[in-house]
Amino acid sequence: MKRILSGIQPSGALTLGNYLGAIKNFVTLQQAHECLFMIVDLHAITVPQDRLVLRQHIKELAALYVACGIDPKKAHIFIQSEVPAHTALSWVLTCHASMGELSRMTQFKDKSAKQEETGGHISAGLFNYPVLMAADVLLYDVDLVPVGDDQKQHMELTRDLAGRFNSKYGDTFKIPEVFIPPQGARIMSLQDPTKKMSKSDENTKNFVLLTDELHVIQKKIKSAVTDSESTIGYDPVNRPGISNLLDIYSCLTGETIETLVAKYEGKGYGDFKSELAEVVVTTLEPIQQRMKDILQSGEIDDILDQGRDAAMKLAFKKLSKVNHKVGLGRKR
Ligand code: TYM
Repeated sequence: MKRILSGIQPSGALTLGNYLGAIKNFVTLQQAHECLFMIVDLHAITVPQDRLVLRQHIKELAALYVACGIDPKKAHIFIQSEVPAHTALSWVLTCHASMGELSRMTQFKDKSAKQEETGGHISAGLFNYPVLMAADVLLYDVDLVPVGDDQKQHMELTRDLAGRFNSKYGDTFKIPEVFIPPQGARIMSLQDPTKKMSKSDENTKNFVLLTDELHVIQKKIKSAVTDSESTIGYDPVNRPGISNLLDIYSCLTGETIETLVAKYEGKGYGDFKSELAEVVVTTLEPIQQRMKDILQSGEIDDILDQGRDAAMKLAFKKLSKVNHKVGLGRKR
């Protein structure tokens, strides 16, 4: 049995990309492993947030985890900011990270460019984002971190920081492996399939939100960009639109790409997209219903309390070890 940890930012409703690249795999992994799933609210405030909206999103994300199939009896679900060891370890690791390696993070470059474009300030938190992520992982002696493709570079940094610390102070951190799913790790935008599907996209037609109304989901899928060819075929480089839709279809149904291509031989994009829209709606409708029920039941607070208590115990032990090795505080 391995220990697995991952996290998602509560920065708005999640997309189908977050579901296929992350949550769907969490649900599978919890069957055989010890799992910790976080709501990373400290990461969310690296860009401006409205405090009341953020609070709402934190609760909704917790409910969504459960609605998607995370079983709180099998996995610990907790809010990152409720376990203060995350920020404490993040500071120690910040002092072992270099400005150069953090400047090379592509997500920082993308997000800071976006902030600049919209006239917003670029916070030092945004720069330090990957170090906090490393702290999230290294506190728990994690074996495996399931994430989408865009987090690969952050996980490399996590492994580098762990190795650097271990060689300076002796064995302290487990070096985690990253789990990028073979399919669904990079779901693309519906209108511009050369870029990643992202919830922060200005054009809402680019993404499907897990909480979109069902008729909106249908419309978004049916108006997804394909190409001028007339067959259903898989070629991510030359035909990114239809290939992305095939990926989504395959991830949701478990049917292979080859099976789908054969199934739609002789049929047009219209039929294919209508049926995919139906597949997406059939997956999301029960999740939306369960999410509403969970939020109404009030059970989410107990789940988050239990998750926090379990995480706190593990994290405190590791943080004490780190502080001792670095020479912080007093020896008693
Ligand atoms: P976030 O909230 O940006 O993304 C959450 C997860 O969704 C995946 N993802 C996608 N997968 C496939 N296709 C897409 N279009 C797509 N968009 C997003 C992301 O790769 C991610 O797995 N920094 C992390 C949160 C985090 C974390 C951690 C993860 C903080 N601490 C510790 C693991 C371990 C993030 O990207 O969140």
